[in-house]
Amino acid sequence: MSIERLLEDLWKDYEQITPQATQIQALLKARGERVLNDHVAFRTYNHPSLSLEKMARGFLELGYQKKGDYAFKEKKLRAQHFEPQNPELPKVFISELLCEQLSTAAQKMIAELVEQVPTGYAERPNFCVSGRPWRVRYETYLKLVQESEYAGWMSAFGFRVNHFTVNVNALKSFPSLADLNAFLKTSGFALNSSGGEIKGGPEVYLEQSSTLAPKVRVSFEEGVEEIPSCYYEFAKRYPLPNGELYQGFVEKSADKIFESTNRYS
Ligand code: NI
Repeated sequence: MSIERLLEDLWKDYEQITPQATQIQALLKARGERVLNDHVAFRTYNHPSLSLEKMARGFLELGYQKKGDYAFKEKKLRAQHFEPQNPELPKVFISELLCEQLSTAAQKMIAELVEQVPTGYAERPNFCVSGRPWRVRYETYLKLVQESEYAGWMSAFGFRVNHFTVNVNALKSFPSLADLNAFLKTSGFALNSSGGEIKGGPEVYLEQSSTLAPKVRVSFEEGVEEIPSCYYEFAKRYPLPNGELYQGFVEKSADKIFESTNRYS
């Protein structure tokens, strides 16, 4: 599979549970913008058979290179980012939940999900867009979400894109991220304001904002429930002292961005 084809599949899958991304892209294109993605983000549990490394393998095979390592202590996550050979393609950001740091009860719930995954599941070429390979009770989702939003999101949605991120530097009609945010709000989209609408700034060479995840219908053992799905993110990068645009991620900002999938009602 080519990277272009994979990205198309990822986008189609993402659009299904993030209809606002389709709407926002259409609004930007109507202004004459060409929308490039800064990065695509994935989540996983750190079980050896489903780990960050397993998720990364397909991208490494498609020519991506590992660049940065990150730790999110409060959220109990570890992450890495990968860069493509073609700078017009999105970077890939993969995080994994350090399950051993959760309560014994949560660890047991996650173990029961992971036990349902067929052997060799992560070796399939479409692993990162394969969806949820387990049955899960709504009750389990609610308990996991209480302890870790990330653990709950994974239990409900499984292996698929968590978010796409618009490359704001590539937009011609928005001189700043604040301008884009104002346009989005005027167009009726709610933004994540945890830690301020704009996370980061020129001093850390990266500014980010995101929408709030909409609620979508998800099947659980007890029936269908409406829960927050995925958000759409926007990133503006600034040049390092050497003149090159910063390509990494900022832990403090990402910590707040992760909250865009929190239950907000
Ligand atoms: Ni992101």
